[in-house]
Amino acid sequence: MSTGDSLSRPGLDAIFGCMNDTLRNDETPLKLVVVLGSVRQGRFGPVITRWFLDEVRKHGRFDIDLLDLAETPLPLALPPGSTELQNVQGRPADMIALAARLDAADAFVLVTPEYNHSFPASLKHLIDWHYTQWKAKPVSFVCYGGLGGGLRAVEQLRLVLAEMHAVGLRDVVSFDRHWEHFDEGGQLRNPEGACDAAKTLLDRLTWWGTTLREARHTRPYDSAA
Ligand SMILES: Cc1cc2nc3c(=O)[nH]c(=O)nc-3n(C[C@H](O)[C@H](O)[C@H](O)COP(=O)(O)O)c2cc1C
Repeated sequence: MSTGDSLSRPGLDAIFGCMNDTLRNDETPLKLVVVLGSVRQGRFGPVITRWFLDEVRKHGRFDIDLLDLAETPLPLALPPGSTELQNVQGRPADMIALAARLDAADAFVLVTPEYNHSFPASLKHLIDWHYTQWKAKPVSFVCYGGLGGGLRAVEQLRLVLAEMHAVGLRDVVSFDRHWEHFDEGGQLRNPEGACDAAKTLLDRLTWWGTTLREARHTRPYDSAA
């Protein structure tokens, strides 16, 4: 009779296979979807987004997928039934492709202006068109506006994202009176503070993104309740 059942080959495979998975997961770049949320004519959003994407590239832990909502028309009418179902009748083919892009994300950053103390309808519509794509994934924010620096938009986004089972991060980059921070060439006049804030955001997003990717893999979120 074998006394080594607890360390049998399948047992070892389970332990070391799992560890290898974990290591591989930790080293694999995180898929980051950066959403440029403003679709307004003459919008400032691309200036801020370009700066942020440079910071993400410098950080080095993410594969970037830029989703510019101005180039991603979302039909005003939602499909019949639950947006949880990707192939629900009436969902246009390009919306299935979009859902697949969001599905692939390990983390999101929403670049949002503040409109009337909230976030733009374009972002709400993107959120409403999807459901499972946000689940158990971290979301952070780059925001901008007048005196409030877009933070009122972010606070409202957090409430909505909680309903989507997403994790809204504490860390954000906020530009108050954003037009004063960037020169005509779209470069920050005093980059230090914003770059430090972006690094903190990306470090924390790495932690959450890696941790939740592993957790979704080993313990599917829907098994929780
Ligand atoms: C409809 C509208 C409402 C706005 N409301 C606010 C506001 O409540 N608070 C604020 O700080 N800025 C407000 N602004 C100023 C915007 O933050 C600023 O115009 C910013 O550049 C908008 O982002 P965008 O250029 O990328 O669209 C508003 C702008 C618009 C167009």
